[in-house]
Amino acid sequence: MKKWIALLLASAMVLSMAGCGSEPQESSQAEESSQAEESSQTEESSQAEESSQAEESSQAEESSQAEESSQADSAEADQGNAGEESSEDAPTASEPGSFTTAVEGKLTMATNAAFPPYEYVEGGEIAGIDAEIAAAIAGKLGLDLLIDDMEFDSITEAVKSGKADLGLAGMTVTPDRQEEVDFTVSYATGVQVVIVTEDSAIASVDDLFAEGASHVIGVQRNTTGDIYTTDDIEDEGLGTIDRYSKGAEAVQALKTGKVDCVVIDNEPAKAFVAEVEGLKILETEYVTEDYAAAMSKDNKALYDAVNAALQELIADGTIQGIIDKYISAE
Ligand code: ARG
Repeated sequence: MKKWIALLLASAMVLSMAGCGSEPQESSQAEESSQAEESSQTEESSQAEESSQAEESSQAEESSQAEESSQADSAEADQGNAGEESSEDAPTASEPGSFTTAVEGKLTMATNAAFPPYEYVEGGEIAGIDAEIAAAIAGKLGLDLLIDDMEFDSITEAVKSGKADLGLAGMTVTPDRQEEVDFTVSYATGVQVVIVTEDSAIASVDDLFAEGASHVIGVQRNTTGDIYTTDDIEDEGLGTIDRYSKGAEAVQALKTGKVDCVVIDNEPAKAFVAEVEGLKILETEYVTEDYAAAMSKDNKALYDAVNAALQELIADGTIQGIIDKYISAE
């Protein structure tokens, strides 16, 4: 009888351990929130975390079950789990001195601060979701945040050349961009939408692709709105694209009748439409996309550190908390 109970218990443990391994992010989330001590650890410098993690795992030379749970309970639960999959080279947010940045001691973020609520200028400062995310990543890496505001279509080059450490600009992951830069995990979703005047004859996205259509479409230069409409509309002879340096300028052109509609990401679209009277967003959506940070392909150590930091910030709910401050759930 006892044997059976022991067996049952053992298999239950194995099952729960297997569960742990396959869902690192969820388990780390649950554990972090249940352990007050951990969150104070996570706030310490990332180097300190790293060494305390090492200490913990070397101390924990206990029975395998106990080890499993104490590892999972450590401040770096998600890293611990990642380590189980590929022991040595799992990315961590904090290999002391193992990465270099554009400016020593700083994390330089390239952005285009004309894209509310992700990045915009407020009282002379750059505010928004991406600025706060970058600050949180910098904090985890023990770096100060530096923000470099530039044209959207200069960001990729700034990242490639190493002038900036990361491009964080509500930037969509696209296959073409992936040839130029490496993207971190995605931290948000965007949707390309169409802004029209309230009295517009354009009633749905499909009207833009209809036979014989000939609209003038306003976009921010080199954004995915530009890329998609160029392919789907201009190259098909269904209209022309007017490219502006800022989304707000395209929206002004719509207001003054220079363009028939604007294709842009949904959140800035909402912000612009709230500012300018007489405009609306079409209900039909054009394309759904993933936002991620763009990084150089030539600085793998920094990429690993930033990507791991971002994953931790996603897992512990920090990123969602930042997004919720700016975007109310519908
Ligand atoms: N998501 C679009 C893209 O990646 C637009 C991003 C524009 N971002 C900005 N900060 N202006 O192309």
